[in-house]
Amino acid sequence: MAEKFTVGVLTSGGDAPGMNAAIRAVVRTALANNMNVIGVTHGYEGLINGEFHEMGARDVGGILQRGGTILLTSRSKRFMESAGQRDAIRKMNEAGMDALIVIGGEGSMNGAHALSKKGVKVIGIPASIDNDIYGTHIAIGADTAMNTIMDAVDKLRDTASSHSRAFLIETMGRNSGYLAVMTGIACGAEVVLIPEAPITIDEIAAAVEDAYKRGKTHAIIVNAEGSGIRTTDLAVKIDEMDVGFTTRMTILGHIQRGGSPTAYDRLLASRFGVKAVEALVEGTHGVMTGLRGKGVDFTSLEDVITNKHRINLEYYHMAKVLAR
Ligand code: F6P
Repeated sequence: MAEKFTVGVLTSGGDAPGMNAAIRAVVRTALANNMNVIGVTHGYEGLINGEFHEMGARDVGGILQRGGTILLTSRSKRFMESAGQRDAIRKMNEAGMDALIVIGGEGSMNGAHALSKKGVKVIGIPASIDNDIYGTHIAIGADTAMNTIMDAVDKLRDTASSHSRAFLIETMGRNSGYLAVMTGIACGAEVVLIPEAPITIDEIAAAVEDAYKRGKTHAIIVNAEGSGIRTTDLAVKIDEMDVGFTTRMTILGHIQRGGSPTAYDRLLASRFGVKAVEALVEGTHGVMTGLRGKGVDFTSLEDVITNKHRINLEYYHMAKVLAR
């Protein structure tokens, strides 16, 4: 009798709300297709170390609504080297793993591509609050992070208005302004700083002073982590420049990565998980699932890692217009 097809699943890089929903969808869809599922803990580090356990339908019960990742994660330096990748492939072969599903961000897709080039059947599922992965309109976790930011900014605006203050709020996004610009629109920010559209401190100060002169009771400045201007420095400078408002700042930090995923992220993760296993059933691999328009389709891992996800700068201009 032929051996059952065995698929491994891991989460890698920064965790993102909705990763658990994706794991659940992978496990249950694989079981429905008569496959074995092996959970790999601690991402690529665990793949090298052989941290494997078989997963059944009950192992993924009650996780749909949980943030983080039940499979745990890591940013593996060893896996960036060819030797680490070879060790991982040896461990996969020993365990009888026929294919691997990698849930993670840009770095994780680089790892997935490296495995694919070495002959492993790999499918990627994009998950990153930064939403900076080519091949998908949106990645798992970004919607939840935006809602977390929105909740925080709404609260900060209450106190900002009460004291006539300018509030600097730093969002995550090492190389991407997605979270900053989208929440800037959703929260009515006066100024948004993103890596994709550099702006000077003088221009920021002028925009804040202008908001004051137009009678605004507060100014919200959303600064993406990777904008090139440090929030702490900007807060001191704006305060010194006498723009009408006094200044305070809040760095939201890792709170943006946690929490129960939104309905949107649960649905997206479920769709990606199902589609990833269906790809294997059809004999497709070396690709990443992604949302394009309303449908889920695939982009080759080669294209994913050689292209950049660019945010639509129309959103940046929209944020400016709506800040009047
Ligand atoms: O998950 C992506 C991200 O949140 C980036 O926006 C941020 O720069 C980075 O992870 C922080 O990573 P770590 O948790 O390893 O400090």
